[in-house]
Amino acid sequence: MKCRTGIVLKQEALAFCDDAFLNRFVESIAEAGCPRLYLHARVAVLGGLTPAQNRDIPPLTPEKGEAIKRRYPDLELVINGGISDTDTAQQYLQWADGIMIGRAAYHQPRLLSALERQLFDEHFVLDELAIISRYQDYMATQLAAGVKLNMLTKHLLHSFNGRPGARRFRQILSDVRRLKANDLSLVEEALDALNLHAGELQRAG
Ligand SMILES: Cc1cc2nc3c(=O)[nH]c(=O)nc-3n(C[C@H](O)[C@H](O)[C@H](O)COP(=O)(O)O)c2cc1C
Repeated sequence: MKCRTGIVLKQEALAFCDDAFLNRFVESIAEAGCPRLYLHARVAVLGGLTPAQNRDIPPLTPEKGEAIKRRYPDLELVINGGISDTDTAQQYLQWADGIMIGRAAYHQPRLLSALERQLFDEHFVLDELAIISRYQDYMATQLAAGVKLNMLTKHLLHSFNGRPGARRFRQILSDVRRLKANDLSLVEEALDALNLHAGELQRAG
């Protein structure tokens, strides 16, 4: 099951978000045979916040996940919410059975390769050029099938965040005129703006 720590309703603000409620809820799913809980460790405010605001504004309370794990040691607990660096991930893994990463997987995909190295295989390297090259092939087939270029480039935008040239990379990929013309050459040009050699790109994984 995936859930939050509780919900805050307009009428009954506290009825479904205190520890007693969360304990009753977790007990009932554990007793029903649910083996694993993915806990997005914050409440959801219904009727007050948009879905996007609900992913940021209610404060994270990972300690509630830790308390659940202590109380129900046989229930696998996967903690979720706001994990965007390896230190936080490692801290949670001191007590949690797993971590779930949402937005950071998209906004800083290199976090996943950093975690792969730290947790599973210290020699892991990501062949970014091969990945980009496969994606370029995919873009070409999708363009030919009638998909608009901006729908394809938007998933590349954050690929190199934090690296020299990343801003220029995003700027080139956001050129509305060329996007409208479905001009695929702008991807190659954007990659050039990163000014990295193949070896560096691969090691940077
Ligand atoms: C665009 C978007 C759509 C989402 N849709 C769902 C959904 O349908 N069901 C769900 O349980 N969580 C959904 N989530 C929440 C994520 O699963 C996750 O719990 C949340 O983003 C917090 O993790 P993060 O801080 O690592 O992103 C969505 C998140 C985003 C950004």
